[in-house]
Amino acid sequence: MEGRGSKGPAVCVTGGTGFLGSWLIMKLLHHGYHVHATIRHNNKRDDDITFLTDLPGAAENLKLFEADLGHPETFSAAITGCSAVIHVATPALDFNNNNQDHHTAEEAIVERSITGTLGILKACLHHSETVKRVVYTSGTAAVVYNDGHEDQMMDESFWTDVEYGRKVMKNKFTRTLMTAKTLTEWKAVEFAREHGMDLVTLIPSIVVGPFICAKFPASIRLALAMVFGEKDDGGGGMMTEVSMVHVDDVARAYVFLLESPTAEGRYICSSSRLTKDQRDKLSAKYPDLAVPAMKSLKDIKGLKVPKISSRKLLDAGFEFKYGLDDMFDAAIKCCKTKCYI
Ligand SMILES: NC(=O)c1ccc[n+]([C@@H]2O[C@H](COP(=O)([O-])OP(=O)(O)OC[C@H]3O[C@@H](n4cnc5c(N)ncnc54)[C@H](OP(=O)(O)O)[C@@H]3O)[C@@H](O)[C@H]2O)c1
Repeated sequence: MEGRGSKGPAVCVTGGTGFLGSWLIMKLLHHGYHVHATIRHNNKRDDDITFLTDLPGAAENLKLFEADLGHPETFSAAITGCSAVIHVATPALDFNNNNQDHHTAEEAIVERSITGTLGILKACLHHSETVKRVVYTSGTAAVVYNDGHEDQMMDESFWTDVEYGRKVMKNKFTRTLMTAKTLTEWKAVEFAREHGMDLVTLIPSIVVGPFICAKFPASIRLALAMVFGEKDDGGGGMMTEVSMVHVDDVARAYVFLLESPTAEGRYICSSSRLTKDQRDKLSAKYPDLAVPAMKSLKDIKGLKVPKISSRKLLDAGFEFKYGLDDMFDAAIKCCKTKCYI
């Protein structure tokens, strides 16, 4: 099914400079879509965005717009004329900048995530003559934290209990992320229900794989630290088992949900489980690799992350293409090329 050819009205992707956003834009362009991508205005942005503008098909089919979740009205221009919006941006996923304001303003991050998302949904409603579907990006943090269900396979019917999550999470960053992802998805679903909007949520587990974005993706850093970090006290000791998915499978799932007329509700998107055995195997495959463990891993040591099921997505006809080896081989290759490791 992959290939070129114009697919009519544009699709808006928020968070175009991010790990998932940039990969998704590449995928949509490859499928022949016109894409309106939002990026943050940055006065200091000497950032090179040629990783977007040089993509095959970008010259003809990619338009960039500046928009910020702190000022949701700024998304309107990008949404104008689009048939669908894929909301990927989040203010809550910046593992790399531990000193930034999410540590001093947890509530502000959660608030920005919610009001930014609701602002985007309002703009979609305003443009409902053209916007027919919205895909919101949630995360398994909005599903898995439920007291007493640790050994249960979780599906889309589970919602994280934020009070419980906040009790068990010592690390401020992961707590903020869990709170923001859960409350934002909840509010988005509620808003869509009240206004009869066609909103689908995609719920990826930890995303690993190659990347084209300029920043070192937080989730790749996390995944590598789990496998190659401080093994004794548990860079990996933390989530003894954790679910993962390849970035290209996530991008394929977005396109699948975009194009599926019957898609509705939440969809968990996760192909693989990183177990202790798998970690050891991967470590042995790359004996020279050492990735500094993130301090935050120690703080959440011992937290057991339940298994999750992608059955709903699979039953809808989606197929995963990649396994753990593909994820780590590609991520490591990219990290080496870009001199991160
Ligand atoms: N990666 C994972 O493992 C994973 C797993 C589950 C769910 N998710 C979800 O997937 C989405 C993308 O994650 P990612 O890994 O691609 O994260 P990422 O690389 O950090 O990308 C986040 C994007 O959001 C943008 N952003 C941040 N604050 C913003 C603001 N105030 N206004 C507008 N844009 C803003 C960033 O722009 P700048 O480049 O300017 O900072 C960036 O483009 C998020 O919703 C995340 O919660 C990710």
